[in-house]
This record gives sequence, C-alpha cells and structure tokens, in this order.
Amino acid sequence: MGAAIEDVFKALANDRAARSGEKVAQLFAADPGRFAAFSATFEDMLLDVSKCSLTPATLGLLLDLARTAGVEEKRAAMFAGEHINITEDRAVLHTALRDRSATPFTIDGQDVRADVAKVLADMAVFTDGIRSGVLTGWTGKPITDVVNIGIGGSDLGPVMATIALSPYHDGPRAHYVSNVDGAHLFDTVKPLDPASTLFIVASKTFTTQETMANAASARQWIVEALGEAAVSNHFAAVSTALDKVAAFGIAPDRVFGFWDWVGGRYSVWSAIGLPVMIAVGAANFARFLDGGHALDEHFRTAPLEKNLPVLLALVGIWHRDVCGYATRAVIPYDQHLARLPAYLQQLDMESNGKHVTLDGETVAHDTGPVVWGEPGTNGQHAFFQLIHQGTSPIPVEFLIAARGHGEDEWPGLKRQHAMLIANCLAQSEALMRGRTLEEATAQLLAAGRDKDAAAKIAPHRVFTGSRPSVTIAYDKLDPYTLGRLIALYEHRVFVEGAIWNINSFDQWGVELGKELASTLLPAVESGQAPASLSASAAGLLHHLVGQ
Ligand code: F6P
Repeated sequence: MGAAIEDVFKALANDRAARSGEKVAQLFAADPGRFAAFSATFEDMLLDVSKCSLTPATLGLLLDLARTAGVEEKRAAMFAGEHINITEDRAVLHTALRDRSATPFTIDGQDVRADVAKVLADMAVFTDGIRSGVLTGWTGKPITDVVNIGIGGSDLGPVMATIALSPYHDGPRAHYVSNVDGAHLFDTVKPLDPASTLFIVASKTFTTQETMANAASARQWIVEALGEAAVSNHFAAVSTALDKVAAFGIAPDRVFGFWDWVGGRYSVWSAIGLPVMIAVGAANFARFLDGGHALDEHFRTAPLEKNLPVLLALVGIWHRDVCGYATRAVIPYDQHLARLPAYLQQLDMESNGKHVTLDGETVAHDTGPVVWGEPGTNGQHAFFQLIHQGTSPIPVEFLIAARGHGEDEWPGLKRQHAMLIANCLAQSEALMRGRTLEEATAQLLAAGRDKDAAAKIAPHRVFTGSRPSVTIAYDKLDPYTLGRLIALYEHRVFVEGAIWNINSFDQWGVELGKELASTLLPAVESGQAPASLSASAAGLLHHLVGQ
C-alpha cells in the first residue's frame, strides 16, 4: 500500500507543478459547471470547494488517494468497534453515543447502546430536576448557576456547544472553569451565590491536575459558605473513573459515567455534555445527537465523491501535503460559533499532530496543520490583511447560515444577517479573484490619481488571487445542525489521519510537559532548582520565585 500511495502523491505533485501559474479564476471561466462539480450537499448543508485549485483530474487523484489509503476499510473498522486506537488498545466509538437505536451492539463484552441509553436517561432526569427546581441547593434555593470544571475535551466541547446553542438556553446560567490559574475560578465564582451554584467536575481520567485543583478549591468554597454536609447538593461529576469520583466524595446518584472508547476530544456527546443539556434541556440535546448521527450515516454510506467529510479531508490533504500550506483558518460568519476554532484546535491538532505512522515509522508527509481562527466579520478587521496579501497562502474555511437568530423578534436584524452573508461571500470571492497590477493602476487613474502616484501605489493594491477557501453553508445553527457540523469535522480529522496512516486517537505528545510540571511544582514551592534543570529553566525559576 505504501508504494501505491506514494505513486498517487507523486501524481498529485506533478498535477500541481504542471498547472503552476494557473489561476482559479481561469478554471471558473473555462467551466460554467464548476460550482456544481466542486460542491456537495447533505440535507440543507452545502460544502463548496470550487475556489480551491482543483481540477476534475486532481479530485480524481485525491479520491484515488483515499481509496488506496483504505479510508473505506478504516471507516468500517471504526464503526464496527475494532481497536483502531492501537497505542491504547481501544475502540473508537463516539459515533455510538449518538446512535440511539435499541439494537444491542456489543463491544468487548459490553452492550454499548444499552449503556449509552442508560446514562442519557439518567442525565435527563438530573437535568429536569435542576431545571425544574426539584433538585435544589443545600438551603433549598433553586440552582441558578452551573459551573463546569474541566479542561481540554472536558471543557472545549461543552463551552463551544453552550455558546453555539445560546438561542436555546433557557436553563440555569452556565460557566466554565478550566485553567489552573486560580484567577479563572476566582473570577467565575466571585459574583455567584454558593447556595444556588452547582459544580460539575468533568474529567475522563479524574486525575487531571488542573481539574482536580479547581475541584478541590470549589469544594472548599462551598464548605466554607454552607458546611461540609452541603457538598452532596452542590456537586456532580462526569468521568470514566468512577472509583476516583467516589473517593472525591460526590454522591453516586450525581455521577455520570462514560467509557474508554470515547476520546476526550470526542466526548461532548457523552455525559461530558451534561452542562449543555442543563442549559438547553434534554430535548435540544437529543436533537444535537440526532444531527451527529445523521452526519455519521452520511459519512458511512455516501460515495466518496459526494461525501462531505471525505471532500473536506481531501482538500485538507491537497493544501497541506501538495501545496505545502502549514495552517488553515476556520472563520465562522456566525457569532454563535465563536469558540468553534478553539474547539477544532484540540479536535484536529491533538488528533493529527503526529510524527509516526501506525507502524511506528516516521511519516512520509506533513500531518496536521495549525488550525486557528476567529468569527467573521471581526477577523476581517484584524488578520485578514495577511490572508489576502501575506507571503504564505492560508486556506480558509468559511461557515455561514442562510438564516440568523433573533430576526423574528427583531426584524431589523434581518438586514444585518444580509450584511453578514455579503461579507462572507465577498471575502472568499476577493481571495479567489485577486487584483492585478493593471487593474489596480486603472482604478487609481479612474479615481483621479496622476500616473506617477498610480505607479507608486498600485503594487500595494495588488492581490495575487487564487487564495484557497472552502465554504460550508447551512440553513440555521440549531442543535441538529450543530451536531452535523461537529460530526463533519470529526470525520474529516478521521479521514486525514487515515490517509496519513497515523493514530488520530491518542495524545502522547501532551505527556512530557505534564511529567515535568509535576516534578517542577516542589521546586517552585521551595524556590530551589534541582540540578537536573537546564540553565534556562533554573534561571527563570530563580527570577520568578527564587529567594
Ligand atoms: O492533556 C490532554 C488531555 O488528556 C486531553 O486529551 C483531554 O481532553 C484533557 O487532557 C482532559 O482530560 P480529562 O478529561 O481526563 O481530565
């Protein structure tokens, strides 16, 4: 397989070299059917990749690449519950969290569907109790504020989803504390009343230093305000390590489990989504799961050339490995997706930031790009300059809804949504079209500049064009669509990882820093640098805490 893949990579490199200098605008001019040929839909969701430098032949090669890499077989292995996470010897079954069919599905002797259904039902009962005021704080006050304590996958997904679904948020206020920097917890709880605050301690392992430290401080805050006996009313937990949760002292009926076949960054669909469920209600959370499942079915069954996650991944591979672009920007023209880029940073970079293949060999091609972004239109007034005229092309992924929220109650906002769409389309169009020196000069002359001034200024107003972007368009960001979007990105990451033949489901790269942090804590507390530290670390330690 390795040699065959390399042949396809070579053919792709030749294709790019043969078309160097070609403009994407020429491709549009030559083919009136280009948009139809290079876009695909799933329900109301549309993926447009036509503004990338692909021809039908390029796309054919990329599809060959996916087939040669065994994407279809690897996809089947994932859905079948095989232990595709080989370094941790685990199945990868976050898809089972949103497949709520009743048919038993036994993996490693466990009926995962029954387990998922049971936890979801328990979460819904707890959620209804909190939202209705039946479950109160220790003094009988209803819960008005829920503070989730977690980090990484136990934070980013729920934060992102809570903001995304804010139009549906009718439960208690939701807050998220992740950073071990005590300021995060302090600032969050400062305006809150302990008597009406519920903490959810969310940690897959229940050993994560930051989460355990914040949980202990939060416990102290409750105990100091309400007494030790109040802890049971003011804490719930989500974890796979139920023994460790019990040791922390959280009442068993407030502990919601999940399983080692759910990766942290794929866990928002599990009990880790509890703060989201409490915010938007069990029915809206169920729609979120339905959306994820619908996209799973699309990914599992649609032919590769019409398969949205596959196409998104192939464009990613084209840009990363053939064009050599090191980053990609995710720019949602949707304020409710403000935290999507941060969420995708973990999903993508923790999954595919790998340097060895499944066989332990050094990878032959660059893997995960840097993922970054901010909502549009704000990015336009900040970093878009570099995307348009910087020296390294940055592929952009635009996300845009046909309809916004709040427009029914406030019809005047409809115009602002039109402005949002206009800006989104304008940016991708400008990136693709660019502006030549002749066009820039002509514009300056037409604006009344003299020839010398036009010649001097025109080069600064040149845009190379052919700067790649894809656009994902959908009707409205509701729970179902959010589920589809997140599953789309999850499967994109899967397909890219499958082509690179890496394990997208472990994260050993985060371990070394964690080990060093634990050995450094005593040094920070004592102000004494151990001899094993580099001169830099010892010098910094001395500067910060030395006596
Ligand atoms: O350190 C990285 C990581 O293990 C992530 O993969 C995970 O999402 C995060 O830490 C939090 O882990 P946990 O849920 O076990 O506290």
